[in-house]
Amino acid sequence: MKRVIFDTDIGIDDAMALLFLHYAPGLRIEAITTVSGNASIANTTRNACYVRERFGIDVRVFRGASGPIGPALGQGHPDFVHGKNGLGDISFPEPSQGAELQAAPEAIVELAEAYPGEISVVAVGRLSNLSKALDLCPRLPELLKEVVVMGGVFMRRGHQGNVSPVAEANMAGDPTAADRVFNSGLDVTVVGLDVTAETIMDESFIAALRDRAGDAGAFIHDITRFYFDFYEGVNGERSCPIHDSSAVAYLLAPQHYGVEVGPTRVVCEGIAMGQTILGLHPDRYASDAWLERANCRICTSVDAQAVKALYLETL
Ligand code: BDR
Ligand code: CA
Repeated sequence: MKRVIFDTDIGIDDAMALLFLHYAPGLRIEAITTVSGNASIANTTRNACYVRERFGIDVRVFRGASGPIGPALGQGHPDFVHGKNGLGDISFPEPSQGAELQAAPEAIVELAEAYPGEISVVAVGRLSNLSKALDLCPRLPELLKEVVVMGGVFMRRGHQGNVSPVAEANMAGDPTAADRVFNSGLDVTVVGLDVTAETIMDESFIAALRDRAGDAGAFIHDITRFYFDFYEGVNGERSCPIHDSSAVAYLLAPQHYGVEVGPTRVVCEGIAMGQTILGLHPDRYASDAWLERANCRICTSVDAQAVKALYLETL
């Protein structure tokens, strides 16, 4: 059985990823840890508690970082993408149960120590909680099995970031934390925008979910109305990339992804703040920024049809 911590700034695509994890066989979600990002920490934590309650997910929710640990690109939350409440502005009742008193970084450490070598973290927001957990427990890389991150964008022709030409939101929102996690010795796999952009959900896919996936399908249909309005405004089509569910798909079926391996840095200042750079040939560079650093696994290709089929089948 896979034990998973879902570390999330739960907005629309995060909620879809959480349901993907919840319905995947042979997997237990040990904790949901929240972080500020798509919405405020109050709203991302409320959203986690609401989705847990609505879908009867047996899991504790731990509130995490309300802001980045270092300088970040931009202020505020992308309410034009995820709505003011982070879930496409659908209305829903106040969840009857809130988050635990323990903070997210401590919960991550406690679970890693309770299940050494067994916990996979699926991290689909800023990496502030994991960075803080590394401060609390420098042995974390030995204790966690792996970390699968949705974030970044890697140099491929025609691909750009979503908050600057080179930066993706989860990286730009806390670049210091991301660079720390990537260089910590944790077993890290990253699915960036250049790969998630190849896995597109359109209205017919959402309609299939609505018709075949019960309340989960109805919920996804409702929260994606706002999301699709945003994407239609951007590219003229009612469809969206499968961002956060791509990290879950990698966890469940890594064979659907091609990867390249190497030390990976995140730019922490200047106009390229938040840029993710995989160094495939560290000993050939004039800069030593990639030398003698831990490797990350960077996804570079995907079998998009297989990932979409897995999502539909799981839900
Ligand atoms: C990432 O940023 C967040 O808005 C999404 O949930 C996703 O994790 C995409 O850049
Ligand atoms: Ca997210």
